[in-house]
Amino acid sequence: MKIGISGKGRTGKTTISATLARCLARRGRRVLAIDCDSNPNLAMSLGMEAAAAARLRPMPGRAFDEPRDVAELLAEYAQPGPDGVRVVLAARVDQAGSG
Ligand SMILES: Nc1ncnc2c1ncn2[C@@H]1O[C@H](COP(=O)(O)OP(=O)(O)OP(=O)(O)O)[C@@H](O)[C@H]1O
Ligand SMILES: [Mg+2]
Repeated sequence: MKIGISGKGRTGKTTISATLARCLARRGRRVLAIDCDSNPNLAMSLGMEAAAAARLRPMPGRAFDEPRDVAELLAEYAQPGPDGVRVVLAARVDQAGSG
């Protein structure tokens, strides 16, 4: 099952995503929560430990030179959160440019 949540700013996307992820995980689903916000805060909303959240690095935004195994990628980029939810960052903008 794949669930995508999008919508206007400040309407509760992150709060609903985090709650849904934890509820599904508690019901026994294997949950991978992918934060696609360029200013990511899903880890915090999930209640992830600060140390694990600090280890999150965005996955490269370009195509890989060689096909990569999904399990290997998750081992490299995913961090564990509460209720067994794993978290991945799709992107992060550290500093905005001009214009
Ligand atoms: N059901 C709700 N009732 C009241 N406040 C809520 C509710 N859901 C979220 N909020 C609050 O509204 C604010 C925005 O929520 P949230 O960050 O989840 O929205 P968002 O759509 O992800 O925002 P952004 O576009 O900035 O990423 C937060 O301060 C959150 O605590
Ligand atoms: Mg948000």
